[in-house]
Amino acid sequence: MMESEKLTPKILIFDNAEDVARATAERFIEIAHAGCEAHGRFSVALAGGSTPKRAYQLLASDDYRERVAWDHVHIFFGDERCVPPDHADSNYRMANEALLSRVPVPATNVHRINGEGDAVADALLYEDELQQFFDGEAWPRFDLVLLGMGDDGHTASLFPGTAALNEQHEWVVANWVEKFKAFRITLTAPAINHAAHVVFNVTGASKAARLPEVLNGPRDPARLPSQLIQPVNGSLEWLLDKAAASNLDGR
Ligand code: 6PG
Repeated sequence: MMESEKLTPKILIFDNAEDVARATAERFIEIAHAGCEAHGRFSVALAGGSTPKRAYQLLASDDYRERVAWDHVHIFFGDERCVPPDHADSNYRMANEALLSRVPVPATNVHRINGEGDAVADALLYEDELQQFFDGEAWPRFDLVLLGMGDDGHTASLFPGTAALNEQHEWVVANWVEKFKAFRITLTAPAINHAAHVVFNVTGASKAARLPEVLNGPRDPARLPSQLIQPVNGSLEWLLDKAAASNLDGR
């Protein structure tokens, strides 16, 4: 995409992290409903990290759970750490504890990323699973990709200066992250960018320094990988709390 064609994201700023979590749960429900109406299923790639946990808990709560046709929901993951699924660092474990084990989503609809094997093989395995699900598509067309942003501007496991930032063909890669001396398995930017809806959740003062650079600064995705997220035929929303948004112009 040319710089001049850059999509203008919708930026919504809430008083606090709880309100961001509620708005995220509402977007999940709305987009799930629309996906089921349009094509009989809803595919979502969940974010890892800590920020989305509250939104997942809300979706599993009495007020929200009944509003989703869980039979038709297909759960995927944006990225995974190279640990077993019961490890404290596992993104699957967090999502399972907060949400998946508490709602009637069929087990066969939960498509987790293996983190416990060889990272390159596990990335290929996940890409195969996605290729089967998005049968015949050039790129995955998730109804929704949820993302977080790290203090350093990374998203999913697209970290500054890593090889995955340059990937143009694969949907999923094993990305070596030198600062962790470890692989992460991650959707690539083009795979994320073919989603119908991409929703970032960013809360807390530790994100405030990078956000203006990511959203309004000069293009520098090698340093600020979140800038790579530009849906080609979809919507982009940033749900922020006041603490994270405190350095944005006019706030
Ligand atoms: C992960 C992620 C990652 C995360 C950000 C923000 O596996 O760590 O998917 O991209 O979203 O690091 O993490 P927090 O929500 O914990 O700040």
